Amino acid sequence: MSVAGPIGVFDSGYGGLTVLRSLVDRLPSYDYLYLGDNARAPYGNRSFSTIHQYTLQAVKWFFKQGCPLVILACNTASAKALRTIQQKDLPRMAPDNRVLGVIRPTAEVVGHQTQSGHVGILATPGTVQSESYVLEMAKFFPKVAVHQQACPLWVPLIEQGEHLGPGSDYFIQKDLKALLEQSPQTDLILLACTHYPLMEQKIREHLPAEKKLLTQGSIVAESLADYLNRHPEMETRLRRGGSVSFFTTDETADFDQKGAVFYGQQVQSTHLPSDELIH
Ligand code: DGL
Repeated sequence: MSVAGPIGVFDSGYGGLTVLRSLVDRLPSYDYLYLGDNARAPYGNRSFSTIHQYTLQAVKWFFKQGCPLVILACNTASAKALRTIQQKDLPRMAPDNRVLGVIRPTAEVVGHQTQSGHVGILATPGTVQSESYVLEMAKFFPKVAVHQQACPLWVPLIEQGEHLGPGSDYFIQKDLKALLEQSPQTDLILLACTHYPLMEQKIREHLPAEKKLLTQGSIVAESLADYLNRHPEMETRLRRGGSVSFFTTDETADFDQKGAVFYGQQVQSTHLPSDELIH
């Protein structure tokens, strides 16, 4: 019988920490391993093959650490790499392990929260180009119109710690305007990048009061709780120690300082050189 292991949570950088926060709050008894590939972030403007390659390297690393289940807490990686990993890589590499993303669980519920039937998606260029939200939402809510806007500078602003500075107002206003011009009827806006909750307050300030703003953390956590209920064969392979360990491919001091803001609690990380992901 295999030894129980932690749940792996992956993001290109800090964003996945907002999802990890919700997972730990909702499912506190499990052990978690977080990896932020900060040295190679952001992923949002990278090609399909690069995002697939980086994400697959991370998934392999999680498996080596004994994680039977990995959550890609990154919309860009979920959009560009998840399907290939699930369909091609996993059956060859580790058929009993699972890799889950954040787009499908979000798409499954988001349509319930619009009155007008028009939903706005704010995301990285990679997520928008993949059309993953449009395709997934069409399965669950075929009558809901999905309007997308790429926000290429939001992740770099956040990763650089400039997201609350005056420079970010310009880009927030510009991208919100472009989104709402596609359909003024849009009454629900999804922050479809796990970095964006850090700017939630600022985004709110630039939005008409009647527009609803939605973040993904609690949606993903609820979906994982449901998944584990339905999959006892996976649930029993998860270690229950209540611990959370953090790894970053970049500097730990920087990760700990910024990571604490995303995670809402102190963070102490270990450095994992990108080289170790490659081999
Ligand atoms: N948090 C990632 C997401 O949800 C950001 C991707 C990036 O590195 O650009 O898409």
